[in-house]
Amino acid sequence: MVLKVSFSFVLIVLLSSTFSSAHPGLNWGGGGGGGGGSGGYGGDYFGLLPEFYQYSCPQANDIVMSALEKAILREPRMAASLLRLHFHDCFVQGCDASVLLDDSATIASEKRSNPNRNSIRGFEVIDEIKAKLEEECPQTVSCADILALTARGSTILSGGPDWEVPLGRRDSRTASISLSNRDIPPPNSTLQNLVNFFNRQGLDEVNLVALSGSHTIGVARCVSFRQRLYNQNEDNRPDETLERSYYYGLTSVCPRSGGDNIISPLDLRSPRKFDNSYFKLILGGKGLLNSDEVLLTGNGGRTTELVKSYAEDEGLFFNHFAKSMVKMGNISPLTGSNGEVRKNCRRIN
Ligand code: HEM
Repeated sequence: MVLKVSFSFVLIVLLSSTFSSAHPGLNWGGGGGGGGGSGGYGGDYFGLLPEFYQYSCPQANDIVMSALEKAILREPRMAASLLRLHFHDCFVQGCDASVLLDDSATIASEKRSNPNRNSIRGFEVIDEIKAKLEEECPQTVSCADILALTARGSTILSGGPDWEVPLGRRDSRTASISLSNRDIPPPNSTLQNLVNFFNRQGLDEVNLVALSGSHTIGVARCVSFRQRLYNQNEDNRPDETLERSYYYGLTSVCPRSGGDNIISPLDLRSPRKFDNSYFKLILGGKGLLNSDEVLLTGNGGRTTELVKSYAEDEGLFFNHFAKSMVKMGNISPLTGSNGEVRKNCRRIN
C-alpha cells in the first residue's frame, strides 16, 4: 500500500504541470540528446509525454474527440481545416498556439499573415473544446496541446492513422506575423524551397512528402493555384504537367482574374477521406498545388520515389505520416515554466 502510494506520488510529480523540459534523461524513440534546443531530429521529444494529463485531466482527449465528431458532422471540411491549424502553429515559433491569438494591444495576430488571411479556419471549434476543458479541468490543458490532439482526431475521424501524441506543451505569450509570413511555405514553391522550409524546422524529405499527404483532405482557393493555369513560367502558358481534362476542369472554376476565393478539392477523388489517393493523383498529373506536383517532378529523386511508394502502399504512407506528425508536433515547444496555459486560446492570460 505504502509502496503503491509513493509510486503514484512519484508519477504525479513527474507528470505534473511543473514537469520541465530540462530533464536530460527523458526522451524516447532513440537517438535524441536532451530536452530544449531547436526543432530536433531523432527522438528528441523535449520532455513531452503522451501521459502528461493522465492524472490532471484524463478525459482531455475524450472531450476533444466528442467536440470534433460534432463539428465534422456539421461541416466535413472542418477536419482538414483543423489539421492545417496545427501545421501553421508549429512552423511559426514552434508549437505554442501562437496562431490562435487575436489582435490586441501587444499582439499582431498571425491570422492576418499572407498564408493565413482568408484561409485558415476552425477557431470556433478550438474555442468550444477549450471552454469544455476549462469547465472540467480549469487551466490545465494548453491550447497548443489542444491543436495537437485535434490534428490527430481529425485525421482519425477522416479514416487516417492513429498515433500517440506527446503532450505538455505550453502556450506562448507572443505571436509573430513576420515569422508567419516568412516560415510557412507558399504554394508556388519549388521543390528546393520546400525542402529548405522543412529543413529549417528540423524536418527532412520524408517528413515533407508524408505531411504533404495531408492534402488528401480539404480544399484550396483559386488564388493558390491560378498561376499554374495561366502563367506558370511567366509565359502566359499553363503548367504542362497538369493532366488535360483536369486542367480544363480547373479553368472552368478558376478564372484568369477574379474569383480568388472559389475553392477546389485538393484530392478530387476522395476529398473527405484520409487515404493515399493524393499520391495516386499526383502520378496522374492531378495534384492541385504546384507544391504537390513538384514532389514528383521537381527533380528531387528521393521525393519522387516517396510519392510513388506512398501511391503504392497506403500503410507505408500512414506509418510515415504518423511519425512525421509527432516530429512536427515537437518543434520547439514551450515546457516547464515557460509560457502559460491560456484560459482563452484567443488571448494571453
Ligand atoms: C509542403 C508545403 C505546403 C504547402 C505549400 C501548403 C499549402 C497549402 C495551401 C496553399 C492550401 C490552400 C489554402 C487556401 O487556398 O486557402 C493548403 C491547404 C491545406 N493544407 Fe497545406 N501546405 C503544405 C503543407 C501542409 C502540411 C504539412 C499540412 C498538415 C500537416 C497541410 C495541411 C493542409 C490541409 C489539411 C489543407 C486544407 C485546409 C482546408 O480545407 O481548410 N499542408 N495548403
